[in-house]
Amino acid sequence: MLVVIRTFALGILIFVTLFILQKWQAYSAFRNAATKLGCGRPPKYPHKDTIWGSDLVKERALAARSGRQMQLYMRHFGILGKTWEENFHRTKVINTMEGINIQHVTTTGFQHYAKISQKDFTPFLGKGIFSQEGAAWRHSRDLIKPIFTRSEISDVNSLDIHVTRFLSMIPSDGTMIDLQVPLHRLFLDISTEFLFGQSTCSLLQPGDSNESMEFVKTFNDALMGVGKRRLAGRLSPLIYYFDKDWRRAYEKVHAWVDAHVRRALAENLSESPGSSDTETGSQKRYILLHEMAKQITDPFELRFQILNVLLPARDSVSILMGNALFHLVRNPHIWSQLRTESISLGDTELTYEVLKSLQLFRYVINETLRLQGPSGKVQRVATCNTVLPSGGGLEGKAPIFVEKGTIIALNIWGLHHDEDIWGTDVMEFRPERWQERRLPWQFVPFLGGARICPAQQQILTHATYLLVRMTKMFARIENRDSCEEYIELTKMTTESRNGIKVAFFAQ
Ligand code: HEM
Repeated sequence: MLVVIRTFALGILIFVTLFILQKWQAYSAFRNAATKLGCGRPPKYPHKDTIWGSDLVKERALAARSGRQMQLYMRHFGILGKTWEENFHRTKVINTMEGINIQHVTTTGFQHYAKISQKDFTPFLGKGIFSQEGAAWRHSRDLIKPIFTRSEISDVNSLDIHVTRFLSMIPSDGTMIDLQVPLHRLFLDISTEFLFGQSTCSLLQPGDSNESMEFVKTFNDALMGVGKRRLAGRLSPLIYYFDKDWRRAYEKVHAWVDAHVRRALAENLSESPGSSDTETGSQKRYILLHEMAKQITDPFELRFQILNVLLPARDSVSILMGNALFHLVRNPHIWSQLRTESISLGDTELTYEVLKSLQLFRYVINETLRLQGPSGKVQRVATCNTVLPSGGGLEGKAPIFVEKGTIIALNIWGLHHDEDIWGTDVMEFRPERWQERRLPWQFVPFLGGARICPAQQQILTHATYLLVRMTKMFARIENRDSCEEYIELTKMTTESRNGIKVAFFAQ
């Protein structure tokens, strides 16, 4: 018995010594940085549960349930300052909405940070651009970058057929339509055509029980499985030991992707080099999977590389367009201004260059990305002891010492709702604010630096094309949603929980 008590006491002693040693090391590293670089501490969230920080986790979960998570972030930024620290299940998290910090983490300090562990994603997502780091990530990035650059200019023609199908579904006599699902279908059709060379054509299959909607559901189930495992943290293997649903879901997604991978590899074998791209008029259409298959012949590697692009591509543009329409129906005069501009184009072909020159359309899309961008928060983890440029000390202006393992939550939503940058009408949808020149790092919906979204120009082209076609077709729009407020539905991205309920009029 005495031996047990002694061993137990020794265990506690070792634990306490290690704890004190860790705290001491952190403190002396901070003191050194404070002396050398003038670092200060950021404000700390006043947790009730100082050990696990569960009070804030619960508050956020409640805010997410009521669709107002971003408002809660803004309240905390308002009370604590633009950069502040919290304890998330014993991990230090620094929340920041300061452009200078976002810029630092994604550019000059890039080497000191990594994406937070994607190991929950691994069985589903494997290795690819979204999940990799270092040289492997650079390789994946190099693989897809030129394809996006070329496709931006060449793929406008391929949008026509899908957008025409979409427009034909919309009543023009003022009957209410919720555009959220049709928009998801439209961009699923567009993105699968660009990524796989074969569209899901989900707009041609009405109802929910069809192959493409089944695929969307399975993909969502696979993502939900990742989310649940993330929440459970270290306990996840234990809690989900008997749960086979996740595996079933991601294996179905893999099977779907694999069929395309096999086809692309077979086509590459049977075709002469350079002939795999389809021609639309005089322009080549770049199919991402075909281009990747020229360099990757291992079917598993190819599966995961393309899946890593499908993940961010799947519904982000449809959410952007849904959000734009959400605000346009509440500001019908802006619809009229857009229509004047699109009608004035007459029969001008909607090329990449023409679309890029339509300023008011660009303002509307920018304002949507500012007010309700699909990605509100991006996280990184410090891979070494390092320094964040701002947010410490009494004034909140001193650099902050960042210990290895600290998570930096870059709050893009916060930056885009900063009154000091955007003025007191920050919550209003006012596209004309884009007439003023904006400084870099005040507006970063696609982030910045080396990991900037590679599809940025393609997204803006697709969004402008759709808005031009819609404003040409419908003279007026009216809101049919009794709720004026934007209630968030947050998954990997954020969209309107109440859908996009609109009435369109031809005259
Ligand atoms: C409105 C639509 C979109 C927005 C606002 C958006 C925004 C972003 C942001 C903020 C990131 C950085 C994420 C991070 O580093 O943690 C990102 C990365 C990425 N996005 Fe997008 N995205 C959009 C649509 C798309 C589309 C349509 C595609 C593909 C066709 C795409 C492909 C990617 C890829 C591959 C990455 C990873 C880049 C890397 O890590 O090097 N995105 N996007």
